[in-house]
Amino acid sequence: MGYKVPQLVPFVGDEELANLKQVIQKQWLTEGPFAEEFVSLIKDKTGAKYAVLANNGTLALFIALKAIGIKDGDEIIIPNITFIASATSAYFAGATPVFVDVDPNTLNIDVTQLEKLITSKTKAIMPVHVYGQAADMDPILDIAKKYNIKVIEDAAQGYGVEYKGKHTGTIGDVGTISFFADKTVTCGEGAVVLTNNEEIYNTLKLLRNQGRPNSGTFIHPFLGMNFRMTDLQCAVGVAQLKKFDKIIQLKTKNYDLYYEKLKNVKEISFVEIEEYSNFIPFRVNIKVDKKEELIQYLEENKIQTRTFFYPLHRQPCFEYLKYKIDDFPISNRVFNEGLSLAIFPGLEVEQIELVTDTIIEFFNKD
Ligand SMILES: Cc1ncc(COP(=O)(O)O)c(C=O)c1O
Repeated sequence: MGYKVPQLVPFVGDEELANLKQVIQKQWLTEGPFAEEFVSLIKDKTGAKYAVLANNGTLALFIALKAIGIKDGDEIIIPNITFIASATSAYFAGATPVFVDVDPNTLNIDVTQLEKLITSKTKAIMPVHVYGQAADMDPILDIAKKYNIKVIEDAAQGYGVEYKGKHTGTIGDVGTISFFADKTVTCGEGAVVLTNNEEIYNTLKLLRNQGRPNSGTFIHPFLGMNFRMTDLQCAVGVAQLKKFDKIIQLKTKNYDLYYEKLKNVKEISFVEIEEYSNFIPFRVNIKVDKKEELIQYLEENKIQTRTFFYPLHRQPCFEYLKYKIDDFPISNRVFNEGLSLAIFPGLEVEQIELVTDTIIEFFNKD
């Protein structure tokens, strides 16, 4: 369907093209000068001591889990509202995902419910920083310390998101950020794994590059695989990171306009920003009673929306975990009420007004 307002149009143009041209001219396609610059810019922004690239956020989580020693039979606590990759990475690392309900406002992990889920098999907690706000990390770190378990942050959506001034992904033992096409900054596909721990970093380097410290040798002291990116992707990534302030300025302007137009519509509620986090708008998330009908109405008017993530405990692929539908009341409620509106940087004022007018029309027609 030709949407008047699609969910996403990537913010790429001349800067990315110029960098891509350089890669072709240099005739160096695998990780090279742009990869080096990309990593260095990420380290500057996040303050992480160590950073390694990975092919995407899903595999970044997988090697991060392997690097902190996750093995068959371990349990990992994961918030119930997140993209499937948070849990499938745990599954493919050999672990059993254990779900925990979420905070009804932020949709991030509900820290008050963590402790009761810890067993002798629990080896890690995976807070996920969703939709532009950080999870409440201090209580998670306290519990992790008390039970001697690791913290792996899924900051796939978290580039630029900070918890009490610290960049997400750098607060636990290890963290990951995705550069998929819908992320704040993108390479199409790509990711980074961050850590301040030298031992984890050394393991990550071996895991990502065929179990050897450097390319160019066929002696492999360890077992690893190929989690590398290309310099083409990193060339796009470098241009994107340099545009970060512009991207945020435009997305914030878009968010504010939606808020201004819809704040007095009594049927709609917006997310509140917790004092421990900054806010890097990812989507415009609203909660309404008639979600399905509103999505349908917007669709008929050629406006594309997204639902919130489908609760993990209801995912067909996790049926084997034997959760019951009512096990996670907050997840069920927010999924029933929530929808995301487009916010990409290039969105025009007229497009936002079309969305907000159509929403207002929907509620006025009853
Ligand atoms: C919360 C979360 N975790 C993990 C991922 C996986 O990242 P990728 O798509 O780069 O594999 C995504 C996004 O796609 C995500 O939103």
